[in-house]
Amino acid sequence: MTTAEKIAVITGTTHGIGRVTALELAHAGVDLVMLCRNVVAAEVLRAQILGELRHARISVVHCDLGSLASVRTAACAVRRDFPGIDLLINNAGTVNLRHRMSVDGYELTFATNHLGPFLLTQLLQAGMREGGRIINVASHAHFRGRLDLENLRDPGCRYRPIAAYDRSKLANVLHTFALARRLHGSGVTANCLHPGVVATHLLPWWVRAIKPWFTPVTLDAERGARSTLYLALSPEAASAQGLYFDEYKVPQAASALANDVDLQETLWRASFRYTMVG
Ligand SMILES: NC(=O)c1ccc[n+]([C@@H]2O[C@H](COP(=O)([O-])OP(=O)(O)OC[C@H]3O[C@@H](n4cnc5c(N)ncnc54)[C@H](OP(=O)(O)O)[C@@H]3O)[C@@H](O)[C@H]2O)c1
Repeated sequence: MTTAEKIAVITGTTHGIGRVTALELAHAGVDLVMLCRNVVAAEVLRAQILGELRHARISVVHCDLGSLASVRTAACAVRRDFPGIDLLINNAGTVNLRHRMSVDGYELTFATNHLGPFLLTQLLQAGMREGGRIINVASHAHFRGRLDLENLRDPGCRYRPIAAYDRSKLANVLHTFALARRLHGSGVTANCLHPGVVATHLLPWWVRAIKPWFTPVTLDAERGARSTLYLALSPEAASAQGLYFDEYKVPQAASALANDVDLQETLWRASFRYTMVG
């Protein structure tokens, strides 16, 4: 794709992979709409980019992905101000060390990492231009993910942070595959990726401090953004549809559960019910 007057909507640009992705997209000449929970931090990044690229066009829209009302308000603002979108990058993600519920009554990691992006995608999809690309930043962690369909809202009493994260990332891949099926022939694509194990703010400082002992290969955020940028900008990726890419920009098989069409559709229906009708 050429970057002339391309518009990218991207979530979570205040840190890590999203921050680098935003910087690189701006340098590639893409107009940015940054959807962020921390608007002050997003404005700092905006000022930094404008310092480097005087003519860059960058907007900041408040969006807390853990709140469906906030996602609706943000999507409404984007639809009003940017009727044509070329890239939707669902990048933001979180790990909650304690069991918390969202304001809408869903386990917060699932709400933030899956339900918020699901709703955002539903609301912005109609504004995607021909050739548009939807990119979900998932994770290899989805291989460990399990979905208890009886207790999707909240798996319950024995909360384990990593299990909650894994299931939210499985939901990202299931969402991508179900979405790609619906987008087939529409001129818009949906793909997902694993960025690698990246040194970012995703985990608390003390986990980051001990992590190298368990995971020796840790990428910097620049390398962690490679596959997202490849899917966003490269001409070869234009026809990719419903694929899961690794951190080296190579399509890989996702987990057996992620490829389970019944599970994809069950999650889709539940997510639709939870997000569209409250
Ligand atoms: N780092 C890794 O090793 C790794 C591996 C596999 C996949 N990933 C995925 O990569 C993506 C980016 O993560 P990262 O590693 O770059 O983490 P990060 O440095 O912690 O950045 C996460 C971004 O998401 C935003 N965010 C968190 N909760 C939000 C919410 N409720 N509403 C809106 N924005 C929110 C954060 O904004 P605030 O400033 O408001 O906190 C931040 O900008 C995530 O989807 C993550 O699951 C990361």
